[in-house]
Amino acid sequence: MSLFASSTNIQDSSFDEFAFHLHTNTIGPIITAQKLLQTNIPIGTIAFMSSDSGSVGNFHEREDGFAGYAASKAALNMAIRHMAAELKRKDDDTIILAMHPGEVATDLANVQVPWQVQGIITPEESVSKMIDVIQSKGIQHSGTFWTWENKVSHFLNLHIQ
Ligand SMILES: NC(=O)c1ccc[n+]([C@@H]2O[C@H](COP(=O)([O-])OP(=O)(O)OC[C@H]3O[C@@H](n4cnc5c(N)ncnc54)[C@H](OP(=O)(O)O)[C@@H]3O)[C@@H](O)[C@H]2O)c1
Repeated sequence: MSLFASSTNIQDSSFDEFAFHLHTNTIGPIITAQKLLQTNIPIGTIAFMSSDSGSVGNFHEREDGFAGYAASKAALNMAIRHMAAELKRKDDDTIILAMHPGEVATDLANVQVPWQVQGIITPEESVSKMIDVIQSKGIQHSGTFWTWENKVSHFLNLHIQ
């Protein structure tokens, strides 16, 4: 099932539909990272695919029907901040980042929405720009959120700039 195929208004969402978003976007990525970290293999950076849909400060009110998806990304963002803080306290220098990949022409974005989607980019452009962004970040950036254009997401990054 596609993530967006299971999109419904939050008032109509079933337990299973809501849980599907949380399992896929929040719990799955965090537990995968947890298992990687437990190997004690030097990892360098873990970059999580988040979304500007998960913005709390820059709420996307127009995204009717995407509440489960948006909530799962907001929860991911908060879990990322905790993971980075926990690692810093343990003097672990793994860098934890959240990324917004842009509006990318993938299967996920291949849905009809009632609003105009601006600035669609190719997966190649998104990935190549995100690699540059990820490589430009150091341990001082761990726990922060960046867009594919290297713009800081202030709604999450309250403690920098
Ligand atoms: N595209 C955008 O505009 C956009 C914008 C903001 C954020 N993002 C984020 O970027 C990431 C990649 O998305 P995409 O655009 O590349 O989407 P995509 O082309 O639809 O790819 C999604 C991938 O996730 C896998 N997947 C979906 N549900 C899963 C589940 N329950 N368990 C395990 N794997 C699952 C799919 O596997 P199968 O192929 O086997 O189904 C597929 O490989 C996502 O986290 C998305 O939220 C995308």
